[in-house]
Amino acid sequence: MTSITIRPAEVEEWSAIAALLTSYDLPLDGAQKHIADFMVAVGENGDIEGVAAIERYQQIGLLRSVAVASQGNGVGATLVNHLIATARKQGLRQIVLLTTTAADYFPRFGFRRIERQDAPAAVHASAEFQGACPASATVMMLDL
Ligand SMILES: CC(C)(COP(=O)(O)OP(=O)(O)OC[C@H]1O[C@@H](n2cnc3c(N)ncnc32)[C@H](O)[C@@H]1OP(=O)(O)O)[C@@H](O)C(=O)NCCC(=O)NCCS
Repeated sequence: MTSITIRPAEVEEWSAIAALLTSYDLPLDGAQKHIADFMVAVGENGDIEGVAAIERYQQIGLLRSVAVASQGNGVGATLVNHLIATARKQGLRQIVLLTTTAADYFPRFGFRRIERQDAPAAVHASAEFQGACPASATVMMLDL
């Protein structure tokens, strides 16, 4: 595995990001509007190896759209750890996520399952809560 760099996504990278998310059937709703919240993991050759975003709702972060080009190389963990550290520095209080595919992945970062109605009110305004993610999605939260 070549070394990767984590940096903010550029607007022109939207189509590559969307293609990666779509390849895993992850919802695009509201994502392009939040392109400024996306980070990309870039390999030495400049290719996008992974993406993830944290949308801010007051002092709550909504972690979404975590996807990697090649699974099992630590890129997901590098991205998630980077976003958690940044959220801490920015003074966010909690990070919430919805997932239908990776509920067993996130506990290693400290996320715990919660009931949908117990998610902080601020994130209920997000496109993900408003319908992009199915009502059956697992909701998870990390206290920072
Ligand atoms: C989930 C995902 C981001 C993890 O990134 P990654 O770079 O593959 O994972 P890492 O290399 O950091 O970690 C690998 C470990 O995570 C586990 N893992 C990977 N995906 C997992 C998943 N969907 N559910 C549970 N565990 C998972 C692997 O089994 C491996 O476990 P080990 O450490 O015990 O061997 C990546 O697999 C992915 O893009 N999945 C498809 C999109 C998706 O479901 N995203 C989550 C949306 S909320």
